[in-house]
Amino acid sequence: MAYQVIIPAAGQGKRMGAGKNKLLLELNNIPVLIHTLKVFEEDELCEGIILAIHPQDEEEFILLLKKHNVKKVLDLVPGGKERQDSIYNALKTVKTEGIILVHDAARPFIQKDQIHRLLDTAQKTDAAIIGVPAKDTMKTVRDNVVKATVERSSLWVVQTPQAFRFSLLYRAYEQAAKDGFVGTDDSSLVERISHPVTMVEGDYDNLKLTTQEDLFFAQAILQKRQGSF
Ligand code: CTP
Ligand code: MG
Repeated sequence: MAYQVIIPAAGQGKRMGAGKNKLLLELNNIPVLIHTLKVFEEDELCEGIILAIHPQDEEEFILLLKKHNVKKVLDLVPGGKERQDSIYNALKTVKTEGIILVHDAARPFIQKDQIHRLLDTAQKTDAAIIGVPAKDTMKTVRDNVVKATVERSSLWVVQTPQAFRFSLLYRAYEQAAKDGFVGTDDSSLVERISHPVTMVEGDYDNLKLTTQEDLFFAQAILQKRQGSF
């Protein structure tokens, strides 16, 4: 039942516009990176973390891991140009026959019960992702003109973690590299080698911190969890 997790943290946080990696921004005096790592550090089923980092952040990240007593990081690997490159670099260092999770460092609000539900499904199906049903009406638009209204009941908003049998995910990454395919998530790489991926319903709280306004939502989620909202 144990798993390892790859955490891509090697982005630049350009859309956040903080002038540094957004993972170094603090929520309740603790960096976003540490919030995310602590979830896995405190999960007894997590047996190791592989962290992909940008060389410019290496020194600061290592200090933070020490300061916050994060002990499960097995490997620090250099990130690549795209998120997919960072994860591929990490996958090349993994040694497991079991389940590997991929979770964005920029999603600090993931909770253990969701991880375990995802893991249970991945054990049975070899590929499972977490997401939530779309709430808004969705339309396809071209040149500012609506082309179609998409049937909402079949639309889900996809998050991380995503969980796979290691050998399956590695094969999917090798094939994508061979074909020059770049996807926006890990599941899309597995889908294109024709393996079914199961959706597990998660939580709308599992926000990805992307732009400045997300920091206000993040504060609200923290306050809600501390019971002061
Ligand atoms: N990431 C990574 N390597 C990259 C790009 C992104 O490891 N070359 C990581 C980020 O650090 C983040 C996750 O992938 O934890 C999701 O990426 P995103 O939210 O897009 O973060 P950034 O790429 O840092 O932000 P932006 O796209 O605004 O620059
Ligand atoms: Mg990015």
